[in-house]
Amino acid sequence: MPKVSPNQAAATLARRLDRLARVSDERGATTRTFMSPAMRRACSLVGAWMRGAGLSVRVDRLGNLIGRTRAPRRGARTLLMGSHLDTVRDAGRFDGALGVLLPIAALEVLRARGVALPFAVEVVGFSEEEGVRFSSAYLGSKGYAGLLGRRDLGLRDRDGISVAQVLAGARGRFSRPGPAHGRDELIGYLEAHIEQGPVLGELGLAAGVVSAISGQTRARVAFGGRAGHAGTTPMAMRRDALAGAAEFVVAAEAFASSRPPLVATVGRISAHPGAANVIAGAAELSLDVRHPVDAGRRAAFRGLREEGRRIAKRRRLSFSMDVTQDNGSVPCSRDLTALLASCVRGRLGRCVALASGAGHDGVMISRLAPVAMLFVRCREGISHHPDEFVAQRDLDAALRITVDFLARLASRFPR
Ligand code: HGY
Ligand code: MN
Ligand code: MN
Repeated sequence: MPKVSPNQAAATLARRLDRLARVSDERGATTRTFMSPAMRRACSLVGAWMRGAGLSVRVDRLGNLIGRTRAPRRGARTLLMGSHLDTVRDAGRFDGALGVLLPIAALEVLRARGVALPFAVEVVGFSEEEGVRFSSAYLGSKGYAGLLGRRDLGLRDRDGISVAQVLAGARGRFSRPGPAHGRDELIGYLEAHIEQGPVLGELGLAAGVVSAISGQTRARVAFGGRAGHAGTTPMAMRRDALAGAAEFVVAAEAFASSRPPLVATVGRISAHPGAANVIAGAAELSLDVRHPVDAGRRAAFRGLREEGRRIAKRRRLSFSMDVTQDNGSVPCSRDLTALLASCVRGRLGRCVALASGAGHDGVMISRLAPVAMLFVRCREGISHHPDEFVAQRDLDAALRITVDFLARLASRFPR
């Protein structure tokens, strides 16, 4: 077995992240969405790296890529590791991908050292975390945890294709899977992820741990008015759906800005019929609402719905706000997080715990197993953008922390 130092493994990790970023549905950008051709190519590429690290590899019915080490003995429990392989549109190289490739590198280092772990490790590349295609995040990890519901299967993309149709594929039918593992089989789940915020950078720390993952509510908002001629319809006689939607965008921003730490985002807007000389008869927009406290998020959602109704009433428009996703905040496991924090301190001298404003697959996997998350510094907190960047020395630190975590967890098991 060739020697693989953490330094070499971290350099390989960086090369693999660059290589994976070029697997995309869009030329000149990194975009991989649920069950797309690029996602299939990403599973093949990462699956080959998993096999090279000695893992058995499969892809489940949700498109989740699953690599598994050989269990040391019958009945041995499993540590889950991983993150998502899908991306937002025009994404960076690290969001999700880091959390899938880092455990592979850590297992390669341990294998080269001849270290046999007293538990199995299952590395998962989840197929859909960002919610780009169906406006609902976590479809991959939800399916892996056996939590996929009828509403999830009924979600439709912008072409009207449902999740159930995509999953049925050529077979023509799809039955909802149960959980990939029983709770008693699992030790826990460790996800490494870029912080996607500025705090670690401000503190001069390469990594930290996560205390909790923020809840989030997403919705499809629609305004209905009357299409009309842009040149002959007096302003006072219009029922302009796009103008109503635009007012709602600004109102949502003002609503959240006056209630920190609440955040509300309209990331997508569309108008129908979408012609320059036609007053929009219909407008649809996405809404993403987050708050560390569930009651705060739900109250904000109600308040934003009232804002929309008020705008629609004054403009004689119809209004709807349909929830496409609603997840509560999830605390990370105290025990696993304390173990991870001791590994961070061992390498960095100190460790901070941050609440995550971003959502992560750990939200769903927490229903199967205790969750711990390692946050890795990313330059200026930039994410969901091609300028996303993690310095080589931080990749190196995150890899060493992960190797230490596996070794310290192993020491808990009788030899
Ligand atoms: O949207 C999020 O919080 C995550 O990046 N999926
Ligand atoms: Mn993301
Ligand atoms: Mn992510």
